[in-house]
Amino acid sequence: MTDSLDHEIKTLRSLLDASAQAVVFTGAGISTESGIPDFRSPGGIWTKFKPIQFDEFMASEEARREYWRRHFSLRGELGKAEPNRGHRAVTHLVRREKVSHVITQNIDGLHQNAGVPADKVIELHGNATYAECLDCGAHHELDHVRAVFEAEEAPPTCDYCGGIVKLATISFGQAMPEDQMARAEQATLAADLFIVLGSSLVVFPAAGFPMLAKRNGATLVIVNREATDLDEIADVVINGELGTTLGAATGVN
Ligand code: APR
Ligand code: ZN
Repeated sequence: MTDSLDHEIKTLRSLLDASAQAVVFTGAGISTESGIPDFRSPGGIWTKFKPIQFDEFMASEEARREYWRRHFSLRGELGKAEPNRGHRAVTHLVRREKVSHVITQNIDGLHQNAGVPADKVIELHGNATYAECLDCGAHHELDHVRAVFEAEEAPPTCDYCGGIVKLATISFGQAMPEDQMARAEQATLAADLFIVLGSSLVVFPAAGFPMLAKRNGATLVIVNREATDLDEIADVVINGELGTTLGAATGVN
């Protein structure tokens, strides 16, 4: 570990010790060490596919077919993924009551699998571990949806009302979940330390929360392999691998 990284980790450790209430904000970068590709790194998902916009999904059966085809081809990674050292370090901070909430853009459920209580995880972009009907809201288990999709190669419809079924995630162009956005704002405004982990911070309104924290007087720390769009407003920027960086800062293996 380089001297400067060592120094930055010591700074993060002392900021955590001094904080009365911190919030962690995560992006796909915290799950890559679990084998789930992120979106904008070389080889990331948006370097291979163009995102399917929500109105395209709603308008075209072919777009829905492609959406499900992509999900089930990637699902192998989502389904088997285990939390990694970065997730365990975040859970440690929640258990130490240093971190009040984990605001995440991720849809993989790995923070919950790593032991963060569900009521402390705020999922801005939903959750890909189940599907729901866009008409009546009925919950649909993915194994059942996958069986129907593979048997009929037709996009699934609701078992109860025949409506369109979609992962319980937020696609580009789809309305953000108001309750999660309100919870994220409340947690952000109550934090004296806001730590971004593994996000390029290019997608709004999610990336508005680090900005809100900073404007509200919190100390803003960004830990990311590459530079992000908000580095110039951050108090501390640590460019490093999340597992080793967070593990060293929290003493978690
Ligand atoms: N350690 C540290 N940083 C990492 C690691 C790692 N092991 N792996 C990846 N990163 C960094 C990358 O350098 C990149 O800057 O994580 C960042 C991930 O950025 P994105 O791929 O843009 O993912 P994210 O910021 O979560 O995207 C936000 O965009 O497409 C939408 O809904 C999707 O929630 C997603 C949103
Ligand atoms: Zn329905």
